[in-house]
Parts: sequence; structure tokens; C-alpha cells
Amino acid sequence: MLCRICKSKGERKKAVIFIRHHRLALCKEHFVEWFERQTEKTIKKFKMFSKREKVLVAVSGGKDSLSLWFALHRLGYETYGFHVSLGIKGWDYSERSLEMCRKLSERIGRPLIVFDLKEEFGYTIEEIAKGTGRRDVCSVCGTFKRYLMNKVAREHGFKVVATGHNLDDESALLLSNTIRWEIGYLGRQAPVLPEEGGFARKVKPFCFLTEKETVSYAIVNNIEFLKSGCPNAKEATSATFKRALALIEHEMPGTKLRFYKEFLKKARPLFEREVKRELQLNECQVCGMPTTAPVCAVCKALERLRERC
Ligand code: AMP
Ligand code: FES
Ligand code: ZN
Ligand code: ZN
Repeated sequence: MLCRICKSKGERKKAVIFIRHHRLALCKEHFVEWFERQTEKTIKKFKMFSKREKVLVAVSGGKDSLSLWFALHRLGYETYGFHVSLGIKGWDYSERSLEMCRKLSERIGRPLIVFDLKEEFGYTIEEIAKGTGRRDVCSVCGTFKRYLMNKVAREHGFKVVATGHNLDDESALLLSNTIRWEIGYLGRQAPVLPEEGGFARKVKPFCFLTEKETVSYAIVNNIEFLKSGCPNAKEATSATFKRALALIEHEMPGTKLRFYKEFLKKARPLFEREVKRELQLNECQVCGMPTTAPVCAVCKALERLRERC
């Protein structure tokens, strides 16, 4: 297959990717150009951040978040990486994740802020999950990561935190929330969550780009990333929703994008009204971070662990 843009200029160059829902075959150079233009368009459309703001990019060591850091840097934004080192020993997961983040930080010459859970709190994420009696490490981990993104953003003066969620993540989450009719979650699922009540603005500049596109961007730019997922991630329900959507996408290209875009345009505003009435935030009595309870989930978990020791 030949690159469509090169062809329009009378050149013949082999395509490295075919983006089926856009019927677009692109060579390496034009794919990178297209990918970065799409990212910039999403940032502008949702007024995510400007070139005058510094952006905290939450990086896991995987393809999406490292591609995001690289793309934002190339687009001229003032980026800082942020990595939570969870202390997961299996498959040397945490050690290798940190190494990938460090490598990109060095390559693009941008600082990486690392929060080491064991050093700062005294426990790894698995110890925390075990101590709180939760078998699902990943959900405890999600709570801690979200908390730390806000805390570190606040302490370092960042108004905006960017994550690497892609279209596959967002459409699978949307399907899952819709099937359960989780009105609160549906109202809060968006490319931008505004800064409010002590929470940093959360943005997802890759929300319209597929996993195939983010992984291709990482590969063509020689970004080293961790291919294996977290050893604690069992067959997550999100994988089932991703498979279901992939099946529909195969039969009807463009479904994922349409499902998510139309939700944002037509349905989300209705759910958002419900959320505004629902949420009451106050300061955590221990750490001062915003929470709906007197003591936030993170402080509660850490208190319980310390009581045991
Ligand atoms: P996940 O829930 O693992 O798919 O991750 C979603 C997003 O959260 C990633 O794209 C990253 O932006 C961010 N993230 C995940 N793990 C970490 C981590 N250990 N440290 C910092 N950010 C992370
Ligand atoms: Fe945190 Fe799975 S336990 S990523
Ligand atoms: Zn081309
Ligand atoms: Zn707290």
C-alpha cells in the first residue's frame, strides 16, 4: 500500500500504517505528522492547556503515556514527566517501568518526577492492598495513582495533568459505564475534567487516537516502552469490552470513534447535570486533599496499615 499524501504529490512511498476508519494509508513521516496534528487538534478543541502552562504528564512506562510525553514535547509544550513507582517485584515490573520513563526523560531532556511508594509511605502497592484486605490490587493502585497525581501537581504548582488514555480505553470505559448505567461515571467521563475543588485539571489528549496508532507512533519514533502489563492485572472486564468493540469495529469501521464522539456531544451534557448535584467535596482531615468523606481513601488505607504494625 502506498502513502496517500506522497501519492498526491506524485511520489511513491510505502505506507507503514493503514488507518481503516479514515481510509488512510501513510508513510512514516506523514503518519507522525498526522498523529501530532490530531493530538494538537484535540488539545485545542477542548482547550486542554496552552503553551504558557506547564503540563505534568503521568507516565507508566507503557506505549500510550510515553508516546504522549514525546508528542507533547515535540509539539512545543513545557512538559514534566511524573511516575509512581509502585514497588511491584513480579516480572521486575516497577524497575523496568521506571527505566523506560528515565530513558525517555534523558532522550528529550525533560525532568521526570518520581514518587516511590515504598520510600514515601513505607509500603509497596501490594502491601497496601493486602493490608486493607482488598484482593484487587489494581483498583487500590488506581486510587493511589489518582491521589498522587493531584498531590504532586498541587505541590509542584501544576494546574494540569495529562494521561495517556486512548480511544480504545475511553470507548471500552464508556461501554462498561453504559451497560451498568453508571450515571455519575458517565457524567464525569470526558477528555477534560476542569480544575476544581483542589483537583488539578485532567486531560486526555489521545482520547480520539486508537491503541494501534499510539503503539505505531512509539515504534516509528524508536520509543522504548514496556510491552508487558502489570502482573496484578487479571483478565480485566475492560478487556472484554475492548474485545466486544473490536468485533463491532471490524464489521463497521468507525464505530468506536462515533460511539465516543456522539456520547460527548449528545449524552454527556445530560449526565453532567446530575453529577454537579451529586458531588460534595471537602478537605481530608489528615492530608488536606479534596475528598467526599472526612478522611480520604488513601489516608484511611495508610492509617489502617499503621495501626496493624
Ligand atoms: P492505566 O490505567 O494503567 O491504563 O493507565 C492510564 C494512564 O494513567 C496512563 O496512560 C498514564 O498516563 C497513567 N499512569 C498509569 N500508571 C502510572 C504510573 N505508575 N505512574 C504515573 N502515571 C501512570
Ligand atoms: Fe497498579 Fe496493576 S497494581 S498497575
Ligand atoms: Zn508519505
Ligand atoms: Zn488524605
